Amino acid sequence: MDRLTITQPDDWHLHVRTGGILKAVIGHTARQFGRAIIMPNLKPPVTTVEQALMYRQEILAALPKGSTFQPLMTLYLTGNTSLGEVKKVADSEHVHAFKLYPAGATTNSDAGVADMDAAYPLFEAMQKYGVPLLIHGEVTNAEYDIFDREKIFIETQLSRIIQQFPALRVVAEHLTTLEAVQFVESAPGNIAATITPQHLMFNRNAILAGGIRPHYYCLPILKREHHRLALLQAATSGNPKFFLGTDSAPHLTVLKENSCGCAGCYSAHAAMELYAEMFEQAGALDKLEGFASFYGADFYGLPRNTGTLTLQKRDWMVPEQFGDADARITPLKAGETLRWQVVSA
Ligand code: NCD
Ligand code: ZN
Repeated sequence: MDRLTITQPDDWHLHVRTGGILKAVIGHTARQFGRAIIMPNLKPPVTTVEQALMYRQEILAALPKGSTFQPLMTLYLTGNTSLGEVKKVADSEHVHAFKLYPAGATTNSDAGVADMDAAYPLFEAMQKYGVPLLIHGEVTNAEYDIFDREKIFIETQLSRIIQQFPALRVVAEHLTTLEAVQFVESAPGNIAATITPQHLMFNRNAILAGGIRPHYYCLPILKREHHRLALLQAATSGNPKFFLGTDSAPHLTVLKENSCGCAGCYSAHAAMELYAEMFEQAGALDKLEGFASFYGADFYGLPRNTGTLTLQKRDWMVPEQFGDADARITPLKAGETLRWQVVSA
């Protein structure tokens, strides 16, 4: 197969930042996707519906002319989030979910939830109003090994949350392990998960073997090969619990290539191309449309897109950098050849 036309996809986990970075990256997403769930981990974080609506306006203003891309906003859950804010999200047309970052888990997560039990009344309200909870599932305590943090979060936190709130819709974001895949597979239908392109493509050797490669460093960190294979199997299985979320997370090149480099892979420039390559490798191109264009919308209770996206099989080279001289961003697969290319949306 050399050409593939699918219903226009959506990205159910995306970071676009603000200001110059937003302007440099948003066109990449808008070119491929109809909608995207926008992560709220700005500095300071987006914690109220009012702030989310302002952020939405900034994103809309940064879109290329004529774009119909829709940013789907989320709020950052903190120790100070009120029950009233949960109700406001439920009533909002443009804010779709809360994002839970355990405090200190990742980029700009200092304001996250430190005491999980204290957030239980908020989970209760989300369950009651049907507001999805999106979870960065990693424990943060320094004594836990970074490669075990997702597994331990599932065992000690996620399983409890799901038991306590059986009707709460939960998205376990950016799965990275076999254990996480098995957990989601065996959980009830209100528990779903996103999978990123980098976790389908690479194992931890990409970061550490033959030199340290900061552009492959993201959180949760890449794991061993058998975990990658489990993720690829899940993504290409046709199981509607697993859907597309790039976690494209732009950082300035200078802040990635640094003695303390930031976590996050930038993948929006070639998101569908990266997924297509992996689905083809798995012999499952026929499963790409469900994963990219149907299951996420169904889970969020939103209509599926009506437009289409066409990918053509032809080699092209990813640029080394994007952005202006003062806002350089190095993309995933910089300077490398990709096999598929988006030709029309
Ligand atoms: C994300 C970022 O940079 O905002 N980084 C990452 O490595 N994924 C935060 C996140 O989603 O964890
Ligand atoms: Zn993210």
